[in-house]
Amino acid sequence: ASGIGSIVTSIIGTEKNFKSRSSRVSYKNHQLIRLYPNSQGHVNDLKELKESEPEDVKFWTEPMYNRTTDVVVGPDLVSDFKVFLSDKGIDFKVLIPDLQKTIAYQNPKMTKEQRNDLVTTNGHSMTWKRYHRYGEIVKYLEYLALRYPSVAEVITIGHSYEGQPIKMIKISTGTNKGGEAKPAIWIDAGMHAREWIGSAVATYIVSQLVEKNSSYAKLLDNTDWMILPVVNPDGYEFSHTGDRLWRKTRSNHAEDQDDSRFLQLVNHYTRWLWGKCEGVDPNRNFDYHWGEVEAGGASLDPCHETYAGPRAFSEPETKAMADYILANKQNIRVYLTLHSYSQMWLVPWGYTYTKPLDYSELASVAKKAIGAVTKIHGTNYQVGPSADLLYPTSGASDDWAKGVAGIKYAYTLELRDRGRYGFLLPASQIVPTAREIWAGVKTIARLVN
Ligand code: ARG
Ligand code: ZN
Repeated sequence: ASGIGSIVTSIIGTEKNFKSRSSRVSYKNHQLIRLYPNSQGHVNDLKELKESEPEDVKFWTEPMYNRTTDVVVGPDLVSDFKVFLSDKGIDFKVLIPDLQKTIAYQNPKMTKEQRNDLVTTNGHSMTWKRYHRYGEIVKYLEYLALRYPSVAEVITIGHSYEGQPIKMIKISTGTNKGGEAKPAIWIDAGMHAREWIGSAVATYIVSQLVEKNSSYAKLLDNTDWMILPVVNPDGYEFSHTGDRLWRKTRSNHAEDQDDSRFLQLVNHYTRWLWGKCEGVDPNRNFDYHWGEVEAGGASLDPCHETYAGPRAFSEPETKAMADYILANKQNIRVYLTLHSYSQMWLVPWGYTYTKPLDYSELASVAKKAIGAVTKIHGTNYQVGPSADLLYPTSGASDDWAKGVAGIKYAYTLELRDRGRYGFLLPASQIVPTAREIWAGVKTIARLVN
């Protein structure tokens, strides 16, 4: 290499972080390890480790007192990491000894022929027995709009960074008797690419409302539904084809980071050399207390998993969603966003430990909802304020929905499980998860009308 390339290499060092983007990231021999910190000292040790951002230790949950922490550790670090834990006196348990095996087993493969057979017999390839690609999900929505034109309409709310259409479905049996639009429930999912269960549950709810619309006539008499199953299609697809554990969008904001031409060039080359640091965390990119990083849980570092972006709504995905919600805010009564994992029904705020004035009202509705959830398969969910129960975050969509769009009942749902598989929840749990969440969602719909 010569010229700028070698200058950059000498500034930045070697290409130790190089990962070819064209190939798939492998998690062979990466371990999911559950940590049991039992003192504030332990928590501080873990926080310190997290802040030092080692390349090969990824925190799936935040270190907190009286809480377990799940981390993924790369093969070269596993034994050192375990020595570190023993030195500190932190108990641990290996939950998954080889992540790549679990990834392979998580989603049963289907051949093109099998998929084509499904389309021929059902009109679509959705099964809820495996996790589906974005194209299949969109085709399903379009199939429903064609087949049930009086109930379902597909709306393209914008395009992703990579140019994919962002499609949602509006389910409505028309205006109410007074000729006005009905109160609506908004559900989105797939904001975080790797949280596949959310999008699977969202499409399951769509299937219930549309394909069984006559059984839900009463529900549809009282409510409209706006469902966006994949907020972040670029990330979602990348989690299928590139890196199963990808979280963010796929944008690149290198040009936004420095105004010096030289640094821009350096940035460009280092990115090209290293091939990393794409993407913004969409759930830190909303324009409400955006970028208040002191609260924790959001970062201004593009390489970080919770990068808030160069500015609020820098991502076309969050912008498109917010614009649609704002245009319809007078009708939207409930805002639900599906994430995983932890089994929690989270109430705002995330950006502060202070509770909204109507907190107890929101919490009591949420408690009734989780009562209905638990009745189905006995799965337990927790209700509480986001910042306390999970961790503080700024620029999240639920806070924005309540704080800016003025939607009173705004919740983040953290679906199954509690960490046995974490983001790698087996496809066999799609239907049970969807059934219980659907019970909770119906309960909310009935309560707020
Ligand atoms: N898992 C979600 C995230 O980290 C939780 C967000 C909860 N909402 C909040 N405002 N803190 O983005
Ligand atoms: Zn999430």
